[in-house]
Amino acid sequence: MKISVAGTGYVGLVTGVCLAEIGHDVICYDVDKVKIEQLKSGHLPIYEPLLEESIERNIRAKRLHFTSSPLEAYTQAEIVYIAVGTPEKIDGAANLDYVNSAAKEIATYVQKDVIVVTKSTVPFGTNKQLKELMNAHKRYPIKVDVASNPEFLREGSAVHDTFHGDRIVIGAESEEVASVIEKINEPFKIPIIKTSIESAEMIKYAANAFLAMKITFVNEIANLCEYIGADIQDVANGIGTDQRIGKKFLRAGIGYGGSCFPKDTHALLHLSHNFNYPFSILESVIHVNHHQQMRLYEKAKSMALSFFQKKVVVLGLTFKPNTDDIREAPSLRMIEVLLEEGAVVTVYDPAAMKAVEQIFGDRLTYAKSALEAIEGVDAVFIVTEWDEIKEISFSSYLLRMKQPLIFDGRNCYQVEQAKKYPVTYVSIGREDVICATLSNTYTIQSAP
Ligand SMILES: NC(=O)c1ccc[n+]([C@@H]2O[C@H](COP(=O)([O-])OP(=O)(O)OC[C@H]3O[C@@H](n4cnc5c(N)ncnc54)[C@H](O)[C@@H]3O)[C@@H](O)[C@H]2O)c1
Repeated sequence: MKISVAGTGYVGLVTGVCLAEIGHDVICYDVDKVKIEQLKSGHLPIYEPLLEESIERNIRAKRLHFTSSPLEAYTQAEIVYIAVGTPEKIDGAANLDYVNSAAKEIATYVQKDVIVVTKSTVPFGTNKQLKELMNAHKRYPIKVDVASNPEFLREGSAVHDTFHGDRIVIGAESEEVASVIEKINEPFKIPIIKTSIESAEMIKYAANAFLAMKITFVNEIANLCEYIGADIQDVANGIGTDQRIGKKFLRAGIGYGGSCFPKDTHALLHLSHNFNYPFSILESVIHVNHHQQMRLYEKAKSMALSFFQKKVVVLGLTFKPNTDDIREAPSLRMIEVLLEEGAVVTVYDPAAMKAVEQIFGDRLTYAKSALEAIEGVDAVFIVTEWDEIKEISFSSYLLRMKQPLIFDGRNCYQVEQAKKYPVTYVSIGREDVICATLSNTYTIQSAP
């Protein structure tokens, strides 16, 4: 079958490439001409492990094509995946402008019966609205069907996840449509769950809300551990070993960010309010996570530390390791608050320096490596646990920093290890290690 994919972002590109990898003939289309030219010349516009090799392989096998022409993308298409962005609107709702314009464009150009499969995360009711929209805009007497096929990949392991996902969800109005999509996905050999369109739309939001809640729950337990002297890693292990709970998503830290959890939790809350349903637990998750992102900074303030005119480095800027995505990354708020306080801020990230420079310009210093970043600084805030950052040893901090003051928002090191060095090491949900000489070496000022 001739498959086209609308949108070559994190989801669309991975979808198109992986469908080509299992043998389908795929055209990836994007309105961003620069991106398409980059892809045609074999350059990856995003950082995603394993993707580049797969693109090269499938372009060579002539199964994968890129275009910025909707005519070329849609005229002969039998299946079109929509994988464009659904960012957050000011009121928290999902912005469906990109999805709607992709649907109109498909309807304008497509000349054959088509199944339009939505990968973008969209609120319930959207797929049926898209069907009406396309029927209103189609130029040929063709049959338009829709299916919801929500995406569960994680940035940073997107290709792996596509081949080893836990399930593929297909929501369709008829068994006939569902089985076409099922057949396309068969080579992945992943369990398929077929549902109504509404249930598929809900599964995606419920999954993201649940994961956000799990992270937030463990973060609240971590904060409590600090008061009672318990260790969150032991507690998470103790509860996660219970198979009803599971170990994943039980790592305490300074909260979630990224292109999905924040906007999807807001969109689900917005939807529930449309039905006058008070989704209290979700409201709390959003509220608690917002505060958690400032947890480390607040801990520093509670130690009466001032960063005014201090050299401070923020290590790890992406919302998680192995991606270049900084959308809603906790690092951005951390940088803002440090700058507001008058700190002299250096940043480092293995993949997101350009993106961060576009936001902060010359208000920051940009280091070329993690080790260079910590040279001569008064304090380090670890926000994202890239391997390069986790590999910095305590002796390196001691050797290079002016003051060995480390705030670790991702619990990258063992507390027992920190105790072996004359460093101050503050993490989340665990005992703080305070260097005996901290008050002598660091100018402690009263918090304003
Ligand atoms: N990023 C993730 O980890 C992830 C995971 C699961 C689901 N999702 C969902 O998948 C969707 C896409 O997310 P993303 O992160 O890939 O977005 P993205 O912003 O990285 O990419 C979207 C792409 O769509 C293109 N585009 C916009 N309008 C278009 C149109 N009319 N036709 C063709 N291309 C168009 C843009 O130029 C851009 O390249 C969202 O709904 C998101 O919530 C994302």
